[in-house]
Amino acid sequence: MTALAINCSHITKSFKTKEVETVALRGIDLTVSKGEFVMLVGPSGCGKTTLISIIAGILHQDDGDCWVQGQNYTQMTASQLLDFRAKHIGFIFQSFNLIPTLSVVENVAIPLIINQVERQEAIKQAGDMLEKVSLGNRLHSSPNQLSGGQQQRIAIARALVHKPSILICDEPTSALDHATGTKILELMRAINKDLKTTFVVVTHDARIYQYADRIAHMDDGTITDITTNTW
Ligand SMILES: Nc1ncnc2c1ncn2[C@@H]1O[C@H](COP(=O)(O)OP(=O)(O)OP(=O)(O)O)[C@@H](O)[C@H]1O
Ligand SMILES: [Mg+2]
Repeated sequence: MTALAINCSHITKSFKTKEVETVALRGIDLTVSKGEFVMLVGPSGCGKTTLISIIAGILHQDDGDCWVQGQNYTQMTASQLLDFRAKHIGFIFQSFNLIPTLSVVENVAIPLIINQVERQEAIKQAGDMLEKVSLGNRLHSSPNQLSGGQQQRIAIARALVHKPSILICDEPTSALDHATGTKILELMRAINKDLKTTFVVVTHDARIYQYADRIAHMDDGTITDITTNTW
């Protein structure tokens, strides 16, 4: 049996506000093998961000279980969960979330510093990771001085610098033109192969479906179909 990176079983999640209750996930079953590259696709509001937030341990489900790297989040204390996330999960937000007052290399060093790597070593490893995404010549720039595609590559470097087991990514190409988006996906695929990192990528962009091993199609809080790409 292939080792599983992610095992979601009957996950449900609703959001309650004063006026309405929105059911975001209606019983999700999804397994992802270690080293697999899976995309989540579906219309706006179908629950994609909710699902990846639960997988990342950022949001808690109402019901069901989520095992990640063999561990069940519901059985962890808050500090065990923080520690687990810091070590095992890389998360790339749609809006990049770079810190404008820090340089490019300092932004990328943050996850290492959180994991108690000494500052000088953290900066060195961050520089090495930025080389991998072809930004080794921009280490001391401010993120604001770089293009959208370059900022996306900083976010990728920051999400990968501590070598997480799983990289979770919300809409990596939505802000990018097609040529840059293709380069980003090629880079992710190369990292997936080199470091055996498991990828879960949310996208609306049908042009990048070809980079996935499997595509989970979602609609209205459920997974309606899973297709496998042949290589
Ligand atoms: N914090 C929240 N409070 C209330 N409702 C929420 C909250 N977060 C999400 N929802 C609702 O849950 C449903 C699923 O939202 P989610 O963000 O997971 O969709 P999505 O598939 O990521 O959509 P998009 O493609 O537009 O990003 C939506 O109806 C949304 O309005
Ligand atoms: Mg979303």
